[in-house]
Amino acid sequence: MKELKNNIFYCGLNDENRPLFDELIPLEHGTTYNSYYIKGSEKTALIDTMYPPKIEEYISNLQKDGVNKVDYIIANHGEQDHTGALPALIKLYPEAKIVTNAICKNNIMSMLFIPEDKIRVVKTGEELSLGDKTLRFITAPGVHWPDTMFTYAVEDNVLFTCDFLGAHKIFENPIANCDEDLKSAAKRYYAEIMMPFRSFCQKYTKMIKEMNVDMIMPSHGPVYDNPDFILDLYTDWASDESKNMVVLPYVSMYGSTLEMVNYVGEKLKSAGIEVVKFDIVNGDLGEYAMTLVDAKTIIIGSPMVLMGPHPNAMNAASLTAVLNPKAKYLSVIGSFGWGGKLVEKLTEPFANSKIEMLDPVLVKGKAKEPDFTKLDELVNSITERHRG
Ligand code: FEO
Repeated sequence: MKELKNNIFYCGLNDENRPLFDELIPLEHGTTYNSYYIKGSEKTALIDTMYPPKIEEYISNLQKDGVNKVDYIIANHGEQDHTGALPALIKLYPEAKIVTNAICKNNIMSMLFIPEDKIRVVKTGEELSLGDKTLRFITAPGVHWPDTMFTYAVEDNVLFTCDFLGAHKIFENPIANCDEDLKSAAKRYYAEIMMPFRSFCQKYTKMIKEMNVDMIMPSHGPVYDNPDFILDLYTDWASDESKNMVVLPYVSMYGSTLEMVNYVGEKLKSAGIEVVKFDIVNGDLGEYAMTLVDAKTIIIGSPMVLMGPHPNAMNAASLTAVLNPKAKYLSVIGSFGWGGKLVEKLTEPFANSKIEMLDPVLVKGKAKEPDFTKLDELVNSITERHRG
């Protein structure tokens, strides 16, 4: 265990071999499951625990480190990458009470069969004394589950933020090296996990800024002894301001759609707009999600396959809608052989979104002169909106 600050220790684990998170997004740098041990003058506490496949290693480490008694196990959130070890821990430390909020209590009872009498429910603002240390609980629904809670170590001015402000990035030293690599890992994590809850991210980023904490200890990735690094990034990413950027996720079978994507991309670049073309068949969806953090406009490029969009384009459209990016404009370009419902199906996932639809451009076969004129009109329409 490594001491991070005044009897607050890191006891989490790296997972360098996990290829995907939520069986969806590739993990470039693995991930970590952070757990913290706090030794007060009278009582001890663990904050968050472990992902099920790592429980044996986690418990063996606790025993090797001489953690013989735990009075409280704080569950900041019910998802099993942080609560997986609770059933084993309450057997190992029979005196321990699990401390959590009412929503998380229901989650851990239904997912992990934790007996009700092992759980103590706390409300926001409630405090728990460890002797010379006080833990204060702050419920934070929305970043990212309804059961999410932060724990504040009052005397040490340290905030445990659970998944919020995390990163999928393994480390040797838990203290963050605030460099471009970490910024990129944190942005990928934000895009995949937090972006759908952007307004909550705004709210809690502001709240934590105002708390002026000395350290932020999240549940994934390194610990921040320079909280402004991650808080300033979140202030930018979660803001309502998008950048002068168009992202073009595309798939093309015979090159007709790609020709249109390249044409539009070059024209937009000539108009001074940053363009990111993204191959959704061979590309890394995490990188795609990262472009959505900033883009003002999304243009999906797809051919028609069996009367509808290419399935990979449909997948990209669904993922985009679920991630709920701040983009203001959406369009579709593509090629067909004999017809079908390309635009209707690709835009259906955005039915409840406020995103403005710009006129699509669909072409039979390869684009011809009148089609390029329509693509020019789309470029002009985007350029005007971005300038506006
Ligand atoms: Fe890292 Fe929502 O669990």
